[in-house]
Amino acid sequence: MNKRKHNFNPGPATIPHVVLEEAAQSLLEYQGAGMSFAEMSHRSPQVMSVVEEASALVKRLYGLGADFEVIWMQGGASAQLAIAPMNLLDTNRSVAIVNTGFWANKAIKAAQELGRVVVPASSEITRFDHIPQGWHLPADVQYFHLVSNETIDGTQWQEYPDLAVPIVADMTSDFLTRPLPIEKFGLIFASAQKNFGIAGTTCVVIRKDLLEQRQARKIPTIFNYATHVAEHSLYHTAPTFAIYVALLALRWTQAQGGLEEMARRNAQKAALIYAEIDENPLFTGSVRAEDRSVMNACFRINRPELEQKFLDFAAQHDVVGIKGFPTVGGFRASMYNALPLESVQLLVDLMRDFAQQH
Ligand SMILES: Cc1ncc(COP(=O)(O)O)c(C=O)c1O
Repeated sequence: MNKRKHNFNPGPATIPHVVLEEAAQSLLEYQGAGMSFAEMSHRSPQVMSVVEEASALVKRLYGLGADFEVIWMQGGASAQLAIAPMNLLDTNRSVAIVNTGFWANKAIKAAQELGRVVVPASSEITRFDHIPQGWHLPADVQYFHLVSNETIDGTQWQEYPDLAVPIVADMTSDFLTRPLPIEKFGLIFASAQKNFGIAGTTCVVIRKDLLEQRQARKIPTIFNYATHVAEHSLYHTAPTFAIYVALLALRWTQAQGGLEEMARRNAQKAALIYAEIDENPLFTGSVRAEDRSVMNACFRINRPELEQKFLDFAAQHDVVGIKGFPTVGGFRASMYNALPLESVQLLVDLMRDFAQQH
């Protein structure tokens, strides 16, 4: 096998090697069963126990009480942008969404297809370089949707607002990366391919009372959260292997010390790269310091003619995945749970060397 790259991909992203090894083994044969985990019925005891353990571990890591349910769905976080309002938004109420960037925009558009949307604030005018503060919610707002971490624009809510309505959070790029004030949330969803495994499943955490809420809208059974809660995520053929890899990643997260330890490591990586971005005369950060994402550091080079050269220089040293999203440009270093500090240290060294050479 070739040497592993320093993988800064935004998602699908780097996965702990021990998780990959165990997944690879189980893809060939699962625990002496004479077949691959991927060949087993989703109703087999083995698969059911994996789903159950994965849900229990999410509850344990976040310290969730009996008032929360954890389910595993398909369709990515993109599907959740529609499924959440389908389940939670009454026809005579509205959802409030602060427009923080690319993924908030997607959420606004998806919710508008289903009901009333209020946008109390937006940072679009300054190219989504911060999280707007000081806004108010109209009285008819039923819940507040936020994008906990804007993967493309590089901002992150460092504190969640205190509101009279539940928060629905798209945590696709920062699920399991830090402890949460869980009492503020009604619903949290995240696709697995950034912080807990491979693409194919989305973890949904939902407060039970929101499932029981009277609905003005008719919800198709397959899109109703209550269906998946009642059937323990096995209403239909679940993405079994993706949930299995998620379980391995959850076990890894727990064994490393849980969410406090993830938060400590992630803060250390972020501090390292942002210090370099701030000190290095060749680079500039794209986001205001107080709202910078711990997961996705976005920055530009002050001499655009050198952009491709820096990408090539990084690639020569096995640093990959740092090209920014086309709408934002520049660079984006995605530093999810599984990315080691050494990879960030190498990137920082390369930024320094490159600046000296130019
Ligand atoms: C914050 C956020 N929300 C939603 C999505 C969409 O997730 P998926 O591609 O799994 O549907 C992404 C994907 O990168 C994301 O970063």
